[in-house]
Amino acid sequence: MNITRGRTADTLTRDELRALAAPYAGVTLDIGAGDGAWAYRYGGAHPDRFVIALDPVRENMREWSAKAAKKPDKGGLPNALFVVASVESPPEELRGVADEVFVTLPWGSLMRGLILGDGGMLAAIASFAKGGASIRIVLNTRIFDDPVPIDVRDLPEVTPEYVVTTLVPLFEEHGIRVENSRWMDADEVAAIGTRWAKRLSHRAPPRSVLIEARVRSIEDDSGAES
Ligand SMILES: C[S@@+](CC[C@H](N)C(=O)[O-])C[C@H]1O[C@@H](n2cnc3c(N)ncnc32)[C@H](O)[C@@H]1O
Repeated sequence: MNITRGRTADTLTRDELRALAAPYAGVTLDIGAGDGAWAYRYGGAHPDRFVIALDPVRENMREWSAKAAKKPDKGGLPNALFVVASVESPPEELRGVADEVFVTLPWGSLMRGLILGDGGMLAAIASFAKGGASIRIVLNTRIFDDPVPIDVRDLPEVTPEYVVTTLVPLFEEHGIRVENSRWMDADEVAAIGTRWAKRLSHRAPPRSVLIEARVRSIEDDSGAES
């Protein structure tokens, strides 16, 4: 798969990824990572975890992937990786690696796929995860305020009720069990701290829906208690 380290484009095999992640207690995947700053900070705050930022726009991850590639005494992070890919073309190397998945304030096809419960999108997201992995999705619903942008006019408005009635069964089809969906408090949205959370909070944090889910594990399927 394609990875980036500052200005350097490189590739990584599945075995190389396994070797990099092996010393860590778990793997976190940030899908639609934007500039990758959140993944960098999360990796710094959780040195026991291997953190992967995934985004199709290589250029946007340049600064933070360059920082991560430095020597540790200069701010480098051996536990952060920046993968250049879209969910529509999921790298095979990431299959089943993550026990923690985040999607924060997506836009474009990632947002559309999640809001519509698109089968291909959900299958790809589930494919990145280990059984039992947690998934945390934050959807910005301010996009549905007037004037509604053309590219979202055909989308249903996202509310916790919409998640329960429409998305829960679609997520379930792909082995993703929604455990909670609710409006987030303004303080909570402001505290997300990603570039887009800050940008969208310029006047007031955007009304956002949080979806907390878990990928089904073998224990769930066998009916055993988890
Ligand atoms: C509004 S930005 C949010 C970035 C970051 N999560 C944050 O909160 O600052 C949405 C990101 O989703 C990414 N994105 C859109 N469609 C995607 C897809 N199909 N697969 C992966 N990432 C996608 C975009 O490239 C963009 O970086």
